[in-house]
Amino acid sequence: MEVIIQPNAAAATRLVARLIAKALRQNPGLVLGLATGRTMEQVYALLADMHKEEGLDFARCRTFNLDEYAGLPPEDNHSYRFYMNHHLFAKVNIDRRNTHLPDGMADDLDAACIRYEQAIQEAGGIDFQLLGIGHDGHIGFNEPLSALRSRTRVKVLTPQTMAANGPLFDGRERMPRRALTMGVGTILDSKRCVLLAAGTAKADILAKAVEGPITAMVSASALQLHPHCTIVVDEEAAARLEGKDYYRFVFRNEPEWQEFQ
Ligand code: F6R
Repeated sequence: MEVIIQPNAAAATRLVARLIAKALRQNPGLVLGLATGRTMEQVYALLADMHKEEGLDFARCRTFNLDEYAGLPPEDNHSYRFYMNHHLFAKVNIDRRNTHLPDGMADDLDAACIRYEQAIQEAGGIDFQLLGIGHDGHIGFNEPLSALRSRTRVKVLTPQTMAANGPLFDGRERMPRRALTMGVGTILDSKRCVLLAAGTAKADILAKAVEGPITAMVSASALQLHPHCTIVVDEEAAARLEGKDYYRFVFRNEPEWQEFQ
């Protein structure tokens, strides 16, 4: 795991967008794992700009989102399909048939989860998985006590997640209590993970995830097991990290990061 600390949220977001763009240029058929949430909105805005201004090409890119609410149709503006169409897919030259989210409207949600895992495998696995982190340490919707080897399945959301995302719904009671999410094991199978976090509200949980023990109580701590995981944070989210000096040294000195200074 490596931690990159940027002066502010805008710089951290730009760095993540540039990492995605670099991966896509190196491999135009990239299988890209995507996240939703407030933190990602600006990442997608930057990718859309890069498409418009630099011709960043999504024509052969395939995407798999981490999660989707159970029971929300794609046209519901709270569904993650709607979010992705709005923030990214409508703004770049991606073929919608190459964009995938778990099917939250399936009659049999368990079967939909199995199909999702199969689709990821048939695509050759995820090359680059973008991640955010929830206040309870979730990645995707892997709430506390998610098995560290879990696969795509239905999860009941925690009161903390309901409180964080509820205000986005018109009336918190309209927010689904369940979601389909890639498992922690699914995420760990990706070839590369990049987690973006910004703001003071993420500082405590980020320190637990990065420097604390690996525990199912903090799903993001499982990323310590991933062979190629980069955590990109702003100063506020980095506030509780103990190894800041070392992380800064690596970013300033390792050849891999020179082009991002
Ligand atoms: C959603 C997802 C979640 C979010 C997390 C942070 O697809 O993967 O794990 O990344 O809840 O959300 P924000 O960015 O809204 O704080």
